[in-house]
Amino acid sequence: MAMIAPELTVVSETSNVVTPLLGRKVLETRALTKSYQDDKVVLDGIDFTLHAGEFVAIVGRSGAGKSTLLHTLNGTIAATSGEILNVHTDQSTDNVLSMTRKELRDWRTHCGMIFQDFCLVPRLDVISNVLLGRLSHTSTFKSLFKVFSDEDRAEAIHLLKWLNMLPYALQRAENLSGGQQQRVAICRAMMQNPKILLADEPVASLDPKNTVRIMEALQKVSTDGIAVMVNLHSIELVQQYCTRVIGLAKGRVIYDGHPSGLNDDVLHRLYGDELDQVG
Ligand SMILES: Nc1ncnc2c1ncn2[C@@H]1O[C@H](COP(=O)(O)OP(=O)(O)O)[C@@H](O)[C@H]1O
Ligand SMILES: [Mg+2]
Repeated sequence: MAMIAPELTVVSETSNVVTPLLGRKVLETRALTKSYQDDKVVLDGIDFTLHAGEFVAIVGRSGAGKSTLLHTLNGTIAATSGEILNVHTDQSTDNVLSMTRKELRDWRTHCGMIFQDFCLVPRLDVISNVLLGRLSHTSTFKSLFKVFSDEDRAEAIHLLKWLNMLPYALQRAENLSGGQQQRVAICRAMMQNPKILLADEPVASLDPKNTVRIMEALQKVSTDGIAVMVNLHSIELVQQYCTRVIGLAKGRVIYDGHPSGLNDDVLHRLYGDELDQVG
């Protein structure tokens, strides 16, 4: 049975992570399922609620459905049934499953996603890549000719500075290291002014130093009041940075709570004989 996320501040004895008082609800899933063409159930009735300011990790063994979950939330993969509710400030909701194409485009602006391969434009300089995050707010004509407002440019500069990437602003994205590209991808996603930021294994290809930088960057994003949700392989990172963890096994939530509750029993149920492969 799934454990419920704590509603109040909890300081764990085993990690430095403090679970903040929960911000407002920004998203809720109800009985969410997904099957691809072969009818195999990949997500099997997922229920959870996401709040502003949370830093949530999704963990589970390979094939558990972690990437599918993030992509269905963002609408890049269509869910099969259930509800993904975009919860507005006045608590009214829209179901992502019944959105039109245009509504889905808008939703992806609010629910930004950082893809595993960053998806930057290699030959374009860093600041232009960041400004591309504003595309959804800018007319196609203006974006084609890279006509961005001074305000947009100031915001892009602010974001690059925030993640210590300003010195690289005029370099081509293709000349950056993986960790630097990841930071640019975060800046671009933040340029969309999202309320939710999703990242599929954001540190999978990074060395330890860059891993720390990216985890700190995502933590900063969450403390700015954005709900951050990431797929992670390392339990150590989850315990160091995340305020909450959702454990998936065979497309079902088998744990939802503070990282300090990931005891041997839960870990065994999550990873089975792969347990020695998670840091
Ligand atoms: N496009 C697809 N078509 C068919 N099956 C897929 C597709 N993408 C993923 N799957 C299957 O869905 C299951 C969950 O995959 P995924 O969400 O990538 O898991 P995880 O990210 O936890 O490794 C796996 O069995 C995988 O083979
Ligand atoms: Mg995956």
